[in-house]
Amino acid sequence: MEIVRSIADMQTRAEGLRREGKSIGIVPTMGFLHDGHLSLIARARKETNVVVTTLFVNPAQFGLNEDLEQYPRDPVRDEKLAAEAGTDILFMPETRDMYPEGYRTYVVTEELAGILEGKIRPTHFRGVTTVVMKLFQIVKPHTAVFGQKDAQQAAIIRQMIRDLNLDVRLIVAPIVREADGLAMSSRNIYLNPDERKSAVALWKSLRFAKDAIGRGERSIVVLRSGMEVMLQEARASSIDYIAFVHPNTFREIDEIGPPEVLIALAVRFGRTRLLDNAIVSVPAEATS
Ligand code: PAF
Repeated sequence: MEIVRSIADMQTRAEGLRREGKSIGIVPTMGFLHDGHLSLIARARKETNVVVTTLFVNPAQFGLNEDLEQYPRDPVRDEKLAAEAGTDILFMPETRDMYPEGYRTYVVTEELAGILEGKIRPTHFRGVTTVVMKLFQIVKPHTAVFGQKDAQQAAIIRQMIRDLNLDVRLIVAPIVREADGLAMSSRNIYLNPDERKSAVALWKSLRFAKDAIGRGERSIVVLRSGMEVMLQEARASSIDYIAFVHPNTFREIDEIGPPEVLIALAVRFGRTRLLDNAIVSVPAEATS
């Protein structure tokens, strides 16, 4: 695995690969890799000739009171894991090169960037779309692989690709879970042992909603309050949202209907804020 730190070198490398007719896959990450990231790299490995994993803790997507300095980092371990998972090039730019003095240009996906996560973290998605756009310009990928774990992020990237006519194929790969169902996340490391046990309620509450929908429950009020009770019983410190949205557009829906609904939630256990979601199939009502 090759490590590239300079933006100009990465662009030259990408141009060369494209001239050779190689398809380039990008897996953008902020590092501290876990099995979820490794599954994205493995997917890119299957779909493209050259896999570029990017490792950059992007300051633009952290709010003023968020954990940029505390964000977990372990570049040496990341290098090893990225290589083992099938990365060809690990792109690790410096913040001063990505956002030099006088940097002023941002990409904003309107509406979608202002709901749910965007309401709570108003500048977050502006930072994500900006850095992803920059990474696309630098790595020149044919295919980009993102995780379903950050479902709103994936929907926003889909919208950005469409709106800006980017010639990039988007693959959204499934969530990877721990054995007890907790979705893998770099932030899980902040949970103390009690919180870690409690946090499995995220997945359990999604399973509860899924089963209830399977049994014919169609009321969002009933589903949401059942999920809230489960999360409260698990001593969640706060529930930021439990949202029922359209899986592609991420817009909130008024009623549960076929073919699918995406249930997304953001919940705090102690000081750690965790996201999870599930796409649930909704069978068409039998007509008599
Ligand atoms: O999902 C993440 O880790 C980040 O939001 C991303 C896509 C790498 C952009 O910094």
